Amino acid sequence: MCGIVGYIGDKNVVPILLGGLNKLEYRGYDSAGIAVLDGERLNVIKCKGRLSVLEDRLKSEVIFSTMGIGHTRWATHGEPSDVNSHPHLSTSGQIAVVHNGIIENYLSLKEFLQSKGFVFLSDTDTEVVAQLVEYYYQGDLLDAVIKVLGRVEGSYALGVICKDNPEEFLAVRKDSPLIVGIGDGENFIASDIPAILEYTRDVYLLNDNEIVVLRKDGVKIYDTDKEEINKEVFHVDWDVSSAEKGGYEHFMMKEICEQPKVIKDTINPRIKNSEPELEINLRKEDLNKIEKIFIVACGTAYHAGMVGKYLIEKLARIPVEVDIASEFRYRNPVVDQKTLVIIVSQSGETADTLAALREAKRRGARTVSIVNVVGSSIARESENVLYTWAGPEIAVASTKAYTTQLAAFYLLAVDFALKKGQMSEEESKSIIGHLRQLPEKVEAILEHMEKIQYFAAQHYNAKDIFFLGRGLDYTVALEGSLKLKEISYIHSEAYAAGELKHGTIALIEKGTLVIALATQEHLFDKMLSNIKEVKARGAVVLAVAQEGNTEIEKAADFVLYTPNTDELLSSILTVIPLQLFAYYVAVEKGCDVDKPRNLAKSVTVE
Ligand code: AGP
Repeated sequence: MCGIVGYIGDKNVVPILLGGLNKLEYRGYDSAGIAVLDGERLNVIKCKGRLSVLEDRLKSEVIFSTMGIGHTRWATHGEPSDVNSHPHLSTSGQIAVVHNGIIENYLSLKEFLQSKGFVFLSDTDTEVVAQLVEYYYQGDLLDAVIKVLGRVEGSYALGVICKDNPEEFLAVRKDSPLIVGIGDGENFIASDIPAILEYTRDVYLLNDNEIVVLRKDGVKIYDTDKEEINKEVFHVDWDVSSAEKGGYEHFMMKEICEQPKVIKDTINPRIKNSEPELEINLRKEDLNKIEKIFIVACGTAYHAGMVGKYLIEKLARIPVEVDIASEFRYRNPVVDQKTLVIIVSQSGETADTLAALREAKRRGARTVSIVNVVGSSIARESENVLYTWAGPEIAVASTKAYTTQLAAFYLLAVDFALKKGQMSEEESKSIIGHLRQLPEKVEAILEHMEKIQYFAAQHYNAKDIFFLGRGLDYTVALEGSLKLKEISYIHSEAYAAGELKHGTIALIEKGTLVIALATQEHLFDKMLSNIKEVKARGAVVLAVAQEGNTEIEKAADFVLYTPNTDELLSSILTVIPLQLFAYYVAVEKGCDVDKPRNLAKSVTVE
């Protein structure tokens, strides 16, 4: 999960590279660098730290160049440092490379190249690529890169510049995202569309092992047999502002506040006559052949999948198993043509999730992907795609993507239930009616966010925070705990409330903060008992319950109410206070809310 950008044209490349890296910093931010062809010199300036450190460094440099590559890093091999930053130069200084991914056989290649006299300066896997390109370079950069691709194993998105090749630079991807921006007398590469959107809306969405030769007057794409490939141009139609902060202090708060709109954008176009009308090719007869569903994802998307399991099993009565992608892909899952695999991913580029999709297809499964980034790898490789129309999600902590994933699952579960004859039209109309009201109910919660800010200000110094819930509330507890951990760095655990007494309750002591979710009417009494259990051991309890349920006030210290809705749909409301709690705690602690330490937005490495 690093950010790559490249340019060739007539403009000064430095501001273009820095502007692109600024848009990609959410992908990794422990170091950054650029390589530009500055007359005869391949000039590499790179340093540890945020992009701003590189920008300050460049203020003292006088550079005019019209071709270059840039990189913002999330370290995999080699700690964040100046020497481990990208771009990496080959020993003679002839070749510069930027890379997103992991070269898995880099050690054996490094030994081979060292035996040929190449000198390595860094601890990274990427430096091997720069050296190997030089090893094969005999004057034709495309030939050299094709030979390199025959030797390296792993995942990569690469930008490659050669000192004695001022008219062109190359790029290629395998398993890591890379797009080509097509301009007028200028061309670009980038890990993600926002990096080049201010210059062009026309892009090529590269597939694995497509090698791009970029010149200022045009772009050619080749396969590894050096056969030219013709690709369709993809025209990007979303606006630049949606990838900007829009007056908010953090992208995360902007994206939390966008949820009413994007939930509506995801639901409303897919409802006709009070029934779901989905752009997926799974008819009644297809579903009748499905004996089991797997939902596979990572992180927040996995938590959304847990809600999906609950809904599909309850409404459509189809067995569902939810799996973490990095586990699914290696455990030889029982998947065949009678299996439907639902892949969930905001970025559509998560390495483990993409690999899980490929594994599912290899085993003959039908596939549906719930994805936010149009044209992403997972979207393009899935049989069916149900887009979440959340718009670009920049903050590392996922919020609007999660709630629109839930919206997609609500629609999917009702669609499956109707096709399986498990739901009447009246029941569908009722649940769809509740669904349509969710955006305004989310809005209602956001209108009282100061209550949550107040509570966060009292507890931002907590050392351990527990999230408890039963049923759907347990799945939301997992999501709330992840939000808090990843942006405030406070240790937190989410626990099935009924399970706490089987050991972990030993950790509850006087003053321990417990956030108890109690929106499930049929489980309320049990939840109340669990709240009393932790209270009896000294816990401070913040409860989240549906409006009107004043019983909870007898047990909890502080109650946040969410508007009433069908308890099957409550997750999309219950999560909002938890998102805001995590946000305000992180702000109180002075954390970098949008770019938390050690993380990146899209995990495109294993
Ligand atoms: C969520 O807040 C995290 N940033 C992370 O867990 C994320 O959900 C996970 O990496 C999956 O990403 P994806 O949805 O883009 O596949």
